[in-house]
Amino acid sequence: MSLKRDNSDELFLRASKVIPGGIYGHVTPVAGLPRHFPHYTESAIGCRFKDVDGNEWIDFMCGFGAILHGYSEPRIEAAAEGQRSKGSVFNQPSSVMVDLAESLTQKIDFADWSVFAKNGSDLTTWAIRLAREFSGKPYVIKGKGIYHGVDSWCDPGLGGKIKEDQSKILEFEWNNLDQLRNLIVSFENQISSLILTPYHHAAFAPSVMPSENFWSDVEELCRANDILLILDDVRTGWRLHKGGSHKYFNFTPDLAVYSKGLGNGYAISACVGKDFLKDASKEVFLTGSCWNDAVSMAAALKSLEISYSENVAESVLSKGADFVNQIELKAREFDLPLVMTGPPSMPFPWFADDNNLFRLQRFCELSANRGLYFHPHHNWFISNSMQVDDLEEAVEHAGEAMNALKNES
Ligand SMILES: Cc1ncc(COP(=O)(O)O)c(C=O)c1O
Repeated sequence: MSLKRDNSDELFLRASKVIPGGIYGHVTPVAGLPRHFPHYTESAIGCRFKDVDGNEWIDFMCGFGAILHGYSEPRIEAAAEGQRSKGSVFNQPSSVMVDLAESLTQKIDFADWSVFAKNGSDLTTWAIRLAREFSGKPYVIKGKGIYHGVDSWCDPGLGGKIKEDQSKILEFEWNNLDQLRNLIVSFENQISSLILTPYHHAAFAPSVMPSENFWSDVEELCRANDILLILDDVRTGWRLHKGGSHKYFNFTPDLAVYSKGLGNGYAISACVGKDFLKDASKEVFLTGSCWNDAVSMAAALKSLEISYSENVAESVLSKGADFVNQIELKAREFDLPLVMTGPPSMPFPWFADDNNLFRLQRFCELSANRGLYFHPHHNWFISNSMQVDDLEEAVEHAGEAMNALKNES
């Protein structure tokens, strides 16, 4: 089966002349499946999108996580529309910013205040600066291979860097508490913060959950050594627990950063923190041309209300658990060594002995030919708009792809 792609290819050719690389960043075709994924989207609703050639896809990427409730969720769109009719960016913030900060501090147990920006990177960077401002200590510890955004202290890319950018950043391997302890001893009284995602969701690798005592030990080490604990919940927020992912793993950070699922496709991020950091936070300058955008805040307020009142995290975990189960059963039917790693709301597929990822890529290509947007290098996302029928249809097509894969080998 082959999908139409003339319009996608033509647009990409036009783009290549006026946009570096045609498409850049994590959505660059070379990071996906260049001859199988479309380059451009026309429209999307619920858990399906149409590309510019009219092909319809069941989407397991949700705008790389920016969509939690489904594309064009009517209640969120209505909230955004209501604000849009009044305006979006003014000289002053709008009242919805106060409503949103109140809502976050009510729903996240340790949060006493909140600030807002547009992207995850804006606030992971701001959070580590706040930790430095508060503590007067320069070093930051992060997990090796963990993505926190595009700013120079954490950008995993190679271009445009100088070694000083990361000279105060220390790294330890996920789950290796001895390495973490050694860093803390070696850099005694010099470490301002430890920033981590709730579990290790690397690209190009299976996801790794925290070991049994990981979070309790991390929390204890931070408290004992006056290191602020920053949770990067940008990708995971409201996909594991309605009160923030720290509740899923039972620990308490000092600061947490959210984005993606917060705005359901509207550009917004938030950093929440404990009261004792509020004074220091006022010293770390924070602003941007459109950061007071009330439309995104109104959308986020509604999205957050739905996430909380309908316990969307529990729902996507449960839908994901059924899906993951069915996919693994299908794989066994075809004698394929496929396991789905990570939490079921954000699964990452992994074939045993497939370290170059060729088998996974081929499975995703064969799935793409059947209208499934399964990414070969990045964790997938379950949208809460997915219904039993959508998931069954996806499993059926995935089974056809597995059958074809088996016949090729
Ligand atoms: C865990 C995590 N932190 C930070 C970021 C950066 O967010 P943004 O791309 O919105 O700047 C991302 C983006 O994927 C992320 O997954």
